[in-house]
Amino acid sequence: MKKVENIRFDYNNMMSTYVGKEQGITDKELSAIKPLAKQAHAFVKENRGTGMMGWTELAYNQKDIVADIQATAKIVRRNADAFVVLGIGGSALGPMAVFQALCHLRHNELKKSKRKAPKFYVEDNVDPERMASLFDILDLDKTVFNVITKSGSTSETMSQYLIIMNMLKEKYGDKANEHIIATTDAKNGNLIKIAKKEKLKTFYIPDGVGGRFSEICPVGLFPAAVLGIDIKEILKGCAQMDKLCRKADFATNPALVAAALQYIAIGKGKNISVMMPYADSLKLMADWYCQLWGESLGKAINNKGEKVNVGQTPVKALGVTDQHSQVQLYTEGPFDKVTTFIGVDKYRAEVTIPGGAEDFPNVSFLSGHTMNELITCEMLATEYALTKNNRLNNIIMLPEVNANTIGQLMFFFMLETAYIGAMFDINTFNQPGVEEGKNATYALLGRAGYEEKANELNSRAQKSKAYIVG
Ligand code: PA5
Repeated sequence: MKKVENIRFDYNNMMSTYVGKEQGITDKELSAIKPLAKQAHAFVKENRGTGMMGWTELAYNQKDIVADIQATAKIVRRNADAFVVLGIGGSALGPMAVFQALCHLRHNELKKSKRKAPKFYVEDNVDPERMASLFDILDLDKTVFNVITKSGSTSETMSQYLIIMNMLKEKYGDKANEHIIATTDAKNGNLIKIAKKEKLKTFYIPDGVGGRFSEICPVGLFPAAVLGIDIKEILKGCAQMDKLCRKADFATNPALVAAALQYIAIGKGKNISVMMPYADSLKLMADWYCQLWGESLGKAINNKGEKVNVGQTPVKALGVTDQHSQVQLYTEGPFDKVTTFIGVDKYRAEVTIPGGAEDFPNVSFLSGHTMNELITCEMLATEYALTKNNRLNNIIMLPEVNANTIGQLMFFFMLETAYIGAMFDINTFNQPGVEEGKNATYALLGRAGYEEKANELNSRAQKSKAYIVG
């Protein structure tokens, strides 16, 4: 059996030895944080599988669900030319990130014989132009939709569902339900009621699994299986990372040391976390991370009810592309960032740079090297430039991008988030700020039960024309 290697977390450049005493973290500071990190580890250990931490067990308790997912996915793969996810936030970002990481980078442009799976679309917005453009490319006869919403009431997702279901009913009458599969909470929300009424095939989002922690339940596993991704291997990767993080010891627990370092860094004014993969396949992984980190940690009050307004703003970047856009700022701007590079030991393709400019030594030095060497050198060079300029940075190295390492990486980030949330003593798993916006939308659109919110909105300070120009 092929040995699957662990991903590696290298935090040398977070330390004062490398980035200097003024900005860097000292061994003394790291030692001092250990008791708090230990407490956070104990919190996660004690609360595993309870409350909103049901996600910790998903690598172990989904045998029957995985079998159902794979059987349903097989049928969809056989019959469909296109598979469209309707969802937003945690119900969209994970499926998109895993698709980009593990499918061909130009999947939808491949011929069907090469693609071996339906084309894949995720409608994670309610831009009318985008929705209308989807109608122009889909052949409804060969399309399956997957409507995903934990709450079963998100306006964006439910409006998309209504539009699609209406089209399907007009075309297929009472056979419309053959084209749409629901993924939602088994008990709560409107989608489960609708799904029952319309007799939709339904996957359930387990208790204790919030949107941004839901990629490794049917929310993400079903779309991944439709795409032919080995979902058991993703779960194996999660279990591998989980096992590694069972100990409250920095030397063996990468997610705990990562959380502790970010905690110290935030205390030093590093209010921005830049996630910068050096692989196009991981570009959307940075988007997924941004939601996880931002929505989990950005909180007004702590568990004691004290006003804390904590959080660290996540920013996505792509190596090497953003070296020519953002890195100037990261290298010389304010000392307010921690940059996390994600590197890959072995890319899934090798491309050699040929000759052709022998008379121009400033160009011909590239010839004979591979693009693999070039991208790797550029990551090392950026790491060097940031470190030389006393900028905190760290690297997560993936032996290669595959289902197992993606499972490891996502579980690493989920545990890191849970640990640092516990260190801040906040509720990592709620999102009152998001709910506020959702409720205001319901009120603006006249949903029954939201009259008080509508009154509140109507009595807000009216905008002054004096401050509107043009
Ligand atoms: O992480 C979260 O809980 C949110 O970002 C949700 O995923 C997002 O608001 C979509 O919610 P739902 O899945 O209930 O439609």
